Amino acid sequence: MIDIHCHILPGIDDGPSQLSESVRMAEIAAADGIHTIVATPHLNDTVHPAGLIREKVDRLNNALQKNNISITILSGADVASHMPLSILPQFTLNKTAYILIEFPYSHLPRTAKDTIFKVLVSGLKPIITHPERNPSIIADPNLLFQLLDSNVHVQITADSLTGAFGRDAEDCAVYLLKKGAVDIIASDAHSADYRKPILSKGLRVAEKIVGREKAHMLVCDNPAAVIAGARIAAL
Ligand SMILES: [Fe+2]
Repeated sequence: MIDIHCHILPGIDDGPSQLSESVRMAEIAAADGIHTIVATPHLNDTVHPAGLIREKVDRLNNALQKNNISITILSGADVASHMPLSILPQFTLNKTAYILIEFPYSHLPRTAKDTIFKVLVSGLKPIITHPERNPSIIADPNLLFQLLDSNVHVQITADSLTGAFGRDAEDCAVYLLKKGAVDIIASDAHSADYRKPILSKGLRVAEKIVGREKAHMLVCDNPAAVIAGARIAAL
């Protein structure tokens, strides 16, 4: 499996503070059947230099090699929707056109459609992160559907499907899956102790909803297309 949304880099956001914890997170991911992780630190209050993210990715890959952990870390970012358009191309997933776009936790801004449109027009392919945890979308999933087109994709959090983010997020995640609105399941992990980089539990829930083959596309084929910069197959 491939995890395209994971706060695994040390000392850069609210993820792990030490390299040793990043290594423990990778160990957990490898044991779960994950072989590639896109490191996606928050770009919210602080705009980290893209070079700093790449440096930390290199350092973590070296540490994983030394520890014989079979995980490849790629660079990316978890980009808040209010970030200026001009900086986005530096923070795409594995230098492709795909970029994670995170709306505020409190609501979906009225400008959401305009934001997504501008990202598209700039030539990037937005992946909307965890809409199932957004209260506006929970109340009215049509708000999400209005944002979607063939180059706008949706990533839900694996732990939403297991109920770890509460009943509302769980119900919304299931609803979006049933509607065929989900392209990718990712961990959005932040730690080795809570919010761990585990996809298999969410995958098992998804299998019951959309069937084994489609569920595997959400954690294997589609994330593989993202990191290769290829087109995501329609479910
Ligand atoms: Fe995140």
